[in-house]
Amino acid sequence: MKDELIPVDIQTFRNATRDIDFDVYLKLSDDNVAHVFSRTTGLDYKRLAHYIQKDVKNLYIKPQDLKAYQAFVNRPAHVIFADPNTTQEKKIATLLNMTEQNMAEIFTQFNVPEETAQYSQRLIRSYVDLMTQSPNTLAIILKLVSHGEYLYYHSIAVSIFSMFIAKASGQFNQRMLELVGMGGFLHDIGCTQIPKEILMSPTELTQEQWAEVKQHPKLGLNMIANTAAIPDEVRYIVYQHHEEPCGQGYPNAIHGPVIYYPAKIVALADAFSALISKRPFRPAYSVERALEILQQGTGRHDRELVKVTTAVFSRQSGKKAA
Ligand SMILES: [Fe+2]
Repeated sequence: MKDELIPVDIQTFRNATRDIDFDVYLKLSDDNVAHVFSRTTGLDYKRLAHYIQKDVKNLYIKPQDLKAYQAFVNRPAHVIFADPNTTQEKKIATLLNMTEQNMAEIFTQFNVPEETAQYSQRLIRSYVDLMTQSPNTLAIILKLVSHGEYLYYHSIAVSIFSMFIAKASGQFNQRMLELVGMGGFLHDIGCTQIPKEILMSPTELTQEQWAEVKQHPKLGLNMIANTAAIPDEVRYIVYQHHEEPCGQGYPNAIHGPVIYYPAKIVALADAFSALISKRPFRPAYSVERALEILQQGTGRHDRELVKVTTAVFSRQSGKKAA
């Protein structure tokens, strides 16, 4: 079969939406070919990121699929995004696709490369643009983010939710909104160095396991330490996103006034996103219930910010006229 296949540049699959109308193969050796992505299931960004990291140059398609492949190459995600005929829903779905791919690339690296960090920045900018252009953005994102691989979608959700909370707090200019979004995006990258069995444990963690989980802000900070495209403000957010105003947080148990304000926002968006997501040990909470839980957790989050968050998200869940 290998002779029938046409090589295509793996880079053409970067910045693409997940849907493909053709099958894709990977050459394992001269006479061994694996069917890696199919037209029914689409691209798997994580696997794609692994191949790119392993320096795979070409993927393969069947000759009869050449037309479909060319159409795919001519319509990368940024073209779909910029097309004035693309609906708002499709735009956001495309942006989430691009973000998920960027996330996959970030999460398969030990250190975040400059190019990937710059791409993240561009994505965040697009979210900020969408937020200002369309009042429906949050509702659409809430609907789309509620599925998929937890760590990616959670990071995307935290990034977006943080920007909405920051914007509603009225204290952030465009640059600060982007920094908050970037911080939300990267806040949990340290988790990639914690064993999956611990992160996804369906049972309560042992003391030793907890101690390991608590390393993730520091591990995350180390991962972005040498990436010049990441500003210091983003580093503070990654490092402080588990600190709590009452001083019971980690890694340094610092108190409210000392915690970097944008880190408090990301902490809240993080808690909210976790509550509305299905976890191995419990089902997802509704938006209303999640907000109640946040309001009851005294001292864990900034009180004023909890109010802002409640205002932002109750608007989305309630259909009744105010
Ligand atoms: Fe975290």
